[in-house]
Amino acid sequence: MTVQTTGSRTAVPEGISAVNLADPKSFLENDMDAYWRRLRADHPAYRHGRDGEYPEFWVVSRYADVMALYRDDRRLTSEKGNVLVTLLAGGDSAAGQMLAVTDGRRHKDLRNVMLRAFSPRALAHVTDLVRTNTRALVSDFVRRGSGDFAAEVASVIPMTTVGGLLGVPQRDHPYLLGLTKSSLSSDEADQAPEEAFLARNEILLYFSDLVAERRADPQDDVITTLTQSDIDGVPLTDQDIVFNCYSLILGGDETSRLSMIEAVHALSREPEQWRRLKQGEVTLDSAVEEILRWASPAMNFGRRALVDIELHGETIKAGDVVTLWNISANRDDAVFDDPFTLDLGRTPNKHITFGYGPHFCLGAYLARVEVKEMLDALRTFTTGFELTGEPRRIHSNLMTGMSYLPVGFTADEAGLATAGS
Ligand code: HEM
Repeated sequence: MTVQTTGSRTAVPEGISAVNLADPKSFLENDMDAYWRRLRADHPAYRHGRDGEYPEFWVVSRYADVMALYRDDRRLTSEKGNVLVTLLAGGDSAAGQMLAVTDGRRHKDLRNVMLRAFSPRALAHVTDLVRTNTRALVSDFVRRGSGDFAAEVASVIPMTTVGGLLGVPQRDHPYLLGLTKSSLSSDEADQAPEEAFLARNEILLYFSDLVAERRADPQDDVITTLTQSDIDGVPLTDQDIVFNCYSLILGGDETSRLSMIEAVHALSREPEQWRRLKQGEVTLDSAVEEILRWASPAMNFGRRALVDIELHGETIKAGDVVTLWNISANRDDAVFDDPFTLDLGRTPNKHITFGYGPHFCLGAYLARVEVKEMLDALRTFTTGFELTGEPRRIHSNLMTGMSYLPVGFTADEAGLATAGS
């Protein structure tokens, strides 16, 4: 690796500065594990694009710093966006209305309203749905023997889950799935940015109609709960509700889908870990946490600094964009022993896959249920599985994982007998 003379405090090696983290291609073309290792060790507060070639933002890669900055809603704001693309565009039009891009008192109040919608009663119905659905999809897939696990199984579950929670009619799930897939990432390298924009708009329009329907004809679902909620006596507006439905569908779909796909991908390459799971040598709960750490489907989130912040000898200036890299923090050997080893029995396992602090993922419980039911179905219905072709990765600077996972399963006949037909 050659070293550039940039005039900065610590010269950044070319191998680091040549990687454009805003470009989805970078995650497919580079050895990112090596990149993050290097950044954590030598450039824990790294100013990306300091030479003007790439977009400028700070990159925070160590676990302790990522945690501290997630927690710090006094010096950092989410109201200018929490994902790189909106932060770089200058802001988020849903600021102050959509939970993830709202700060302070309003965020707390809105979060309490949303938490009511995630009450044990609402979730009991949804978790039953996840279990039934996952068992049916996985057992059918195992009976067929092989196929694309991503499309045929993992894609269907999160949409049913969040759709069930929100009260989206089953017939509309495929339509929404198509839209969410093009909103945050892309299965294709050449998707134009306008397509993502259009897809996001269509999701908003879809939910505007559904909110109007629920106001006219209340049901037992989250949208109805939100139409009946208020903050300090002021009802939520249609727009408040639409933005938050949008955030639930986007937040809850792709992340969980990618985690389940990675579970099968990782276990197909790690026979010893699969054996431990199959034979009950590790608990489902610890296996779920390790899959979530391993997959880290949401690679990063971002904030904008409200004041100057000193970090490792660098000054993050008020107004600067700061990105917090979960994918790197989850492989930080200051916190995780042997972080590049998949260990389904890993304890403790305080991964940062769901973020931390005031914006900690609202759907973490549901996501854990989804991954748990997936692992349970796998260990019940199959004795083993292997890849039958080359998987394909998604294109994104926000999410990571596979869009295509060809896999062949060997049936566990005794397990399948418990599935029904
Ligand atoms: C927030 C990750 C599943 C809804 C977050 C954040 C992360 C995250 C890292 C913090 C964002 C920030 O600090 O700016 C994940 C992962 C998931 C997952 C990795 C699956 C494995 C879900 C599900 C739902 C959901 C299933 C909904 C049903 C949300 C919402 C927020 C959020 C509404 C915003 C919370 C707030 O700002 O207070 N998620 N998520 N997520 N997530 Fe998730």
